[in-house]
Amino acid sequence: MITKLLIIILHVCIPLVGTTPSTGDQSLFERSLDATEGLLEFFSADYSSINVDGLFGLRVGEGQLLDAIDVCEKKPTCPFSILSRLTALAVKLGTTCERALPYVEQADPAYYERFMQTIDAPYRLPYRVTTLSDDEVESVTIGKNSLYDEDKGDACYARLLGTYEEGGCRIGKCNVTKNCVDMMTSKGTSRYVTTHQLLYFIVMETVKCREKVEEFLGDKGVASFQKDLCTNIYKEALEATSGGKVMESEKDLFLERVLLCGTLGYEDFLKEDWIKMTLQWPDSRTGCFKPRYHSSIFTGRSERSNMRKLLREKTMKDGCLSHTSGLGFGTFCLYLHHLTMNI
Ligand SMILES: *[C@@H]1O[C@H](CO)[C@@H](O)[C@H](O)[C@H]1NC(C)=O
Repeated sequence: MITKLLIIILHVCIPLVGTTPSTGDQSLFERSLDATEGLLEFFSADYSSINVDGLFGLRVGEGQLLDAIDVCEKKPTCPFSILSRLTALAVKLGTTCERALPYVEQADPAYYERFMQTIDAPYRLPYRVTTLSDDEVESVTIGKNSLYDEDKGDACYARLLGTYEEGGCRIGKCNVTKNCVDMMTSKGTSRYVTTHQLLYFIVMETVKCREKVEEFLGDKGVASFQKDLCTNIYKEALEATSGGKVMESEKDLFLERVLLCGTLGYEDFLKEDWIKMTLQWPDSRTGCFKPRYHSSIFTGRSERSNMRKLLREKTMKDGCLSHTSGLGFGTFCLYLHHLTMNI
C-alpha cells in the first residue's frame, strides 16, 4: 500500500497528458474531477472557516472518494491517471478535514461534542444499486409538511450517537424511542423534513446501530424506510427539475437529495442530465457555490431556524456558501464513485 501510494504521489508530479483512454464517459469524468478539485482547492484554502455543515459534506465526499479508489484499484479498465487524481484528492481532503476539526470545535464546543461522530471520520456507506420503478414513483404524493423541529430531531440523532443526556446522565448508544421513530417515519413530509428523516436512517447505519434499531422497529427494516424516503425524495427532485432547470433557491436542497439518496445507491439520482446540470453550478472563478443574487436566500433564516443545525448556512471566503459547497463537494465525489464503477 505504502509503495503504491508513493508511486501514485510521484506519478501526480508527472504530466498526465495522453494517459487517459478516450471513453464515452471521459469528458463527464474529467469534468467531475475538475469540479471536485476546484471545490477542494477552495476548502483547503479556507479550512479555518469550515463549519459543521461544510465538514459533513466533506466527510461524505471522503467516503465516496475512498470507495472510488477501491473500485479503481481493482478494475483493469480504470486508468492510472484517474487513480492518481482520485488519490491526490483523498490525501488533500484528509488533511483539510483534520485541519478544520479544531476550528469547528472552537466555534461551538457543545454542538461539536454532541455530533462529533458524524464529522470526525469519512462516511463509509453501503452502496446498494437500486432503481426505482415508474409505478413506485407514480404512487407517491408529495407531502406538505416542510417544518422540521430541529430540537426534537437533534435529540433523536443524539440518542443514536450515545450523546443524549437525561437527568444528568448519558444514555447508551443506539437508543430509539417511539417518538423518534414516529417523527422520522411520519408521512406527508417534504423538503428538508424528508431529507432529515432519511439522514436519521443513514446516520444509524454509519454508527452501527442498524441491528439494534431493527429489533425495536419490528418487521420493517431500515433499508425499506430508506427506500420509501428516497422514492418520495426522488419525486420531489423530479418536480424541482420540471421547469428544465432547478431554481436558484432550490439548489441546496437538490444537492442534498442527490447526495443522500445517491450515496445509498439510488441511481435514478445519478442520471447524466442531472450530473451535467449540477456540474455547471459552481462559480467559475472560485470553484465554490455562491448565491447568484446578492440578496441571499439564507438571510434571516440562520438564527431562529426550524431546521437542524446541519442546514445552517455560513458565508465563507469570496461569499461562498458553506452548506451548499459542502453538499456540492460530497455530490461530486459521489459522481466520481459512480463513474468509476461504470468505467
Ligand atoms: C431509550 O432510552 C429511554 C430513556 O430515555 C429508555 O427508557 C429506553 O428503554 C431506551 N430504549 C432503547 C431501545 O434502548
